[in-house]
Amino acid sequence: MIAKRIIVALLSVMTSVVTIAPAPVLGQKGQASPVAPRRELVESVVKEAYAQFRGDTGGKNADYIPALAQVDSKLFGIAIVTTDNQVVTLGDVKDPFSIQSISKVFTLALAMEEMGADKVFDKVGSEPTGRAFNSPIAVVDMQTHTGNPFVNAGAIATTSLISGNDANAKWNKVLDFYSRVAGEKLTIIDEIYKSEAATNTGNKALSYLLAKYDRIYADPFESVDIYTKQCSVGVNALQLARMGATLANNGKNPATGEQVIKAEDVPHILSTMTMAGLYDGSGGWAWHVGLPAKSGVGGGIVAVVPGKGAIAVFAPPLDEAGNSVKAQKVIEFVSQKLNYNLFSPSSVGWK
Ligand code: DON
Repeated sequence: MIAKRIIVALLSVMTSVVTIAPAPVLGQKGQASPVAPRRELVESVVKEAYAQFRGDTGGKNADYIPALAQVDSKLFGIAIVTTDNQVVTLGDVKDPFSIQSISKVFTLALAMEEMGADKVFDKVGSEPTGRAFNSPIAVVDMQTHTGNPFVNAGAIATTSLISGNDANAKWNKVLDFYSRVAGEKLTIIDEIYKSEAATNTGNKALSYLLAKYDRIYADPFESVDIYTKQCSVGVNALQLARMGATLANNGKNPATGEQVIKAEDVPHILSTMTMAGLYDGSGGWAWHVGLPAKSGVGGGIVAVVPGKGAIAVFAPPLDEAGNSVKAQKVIEFVSQKLNYNLFSPSSVGWK
């Protein structure tokens, strides 16, 4: 019995050491997670999805941040990381893109680490706005004004909660936290930051509107600047999938083994993703896919399958709501094939 436990522990350590590279990995025997999917099955579904959607020409790059319009709209990468750190990737999974709104998930996690989930909920809330992600009308209309941590106003308010002696200390804390969730050092994409900082009058307006209602908790423009930096952090699809897998794995990074996010905070984060992760597309997403997910105007979407893993897709062209067209299609396809829809009892084996 004891020997068996030692072997299992050794295997799980080996898993985290060996499989950080994108071409691992383990068969069923080495799996630490009893619910992680079978590698061969995941590989074949990912291949099928890639072939089916690579030629899709729907959508258009975001251009309200000028540098995003310059990104090659043909880039397309799919990455899956499981809770036992199996890695399956296909396509452009090493190309860094700006994390954009997906950053909001991890600043929310950091704010909860710092002050506890209840306080963050009081200060930001968690209700869908039914409006565009950058809507000033929502700030005026919503009872909480902030709405939720994933619309721009609520996200800027969440960023303003991060403590630090000065703006630089706060920013470094945010970047370090993201890096620990990703299991690798992340850096800002300077060109995106400059482009967004030069054009983000709308976000500045939102921050001052929040100040009118006492719903921002540090200097408004300082908070917008840190927020703009966090949106400009570069990730590739593999790193993003690992960030999602950290959530799927109860806040513990499956590659490094570090408990980065408190396990008790994970359900709050995933429920917020379900409700507002794709903005005005969130209802349709829940209907069709049934997974907590978060999109960014950089073209990334990450979806989390609690206990099992995460899938990240990068493809820049977006729909009207600001969500990557191809990424939505791929994740819906993969989720259906692998029976991941959380609202379906069969996803936990109930036939
Ligand atoms: O503040 C903005 O508008 C961008 N930095 C982030 C917006 C975004 O990614 C919305 N996502 N779908």
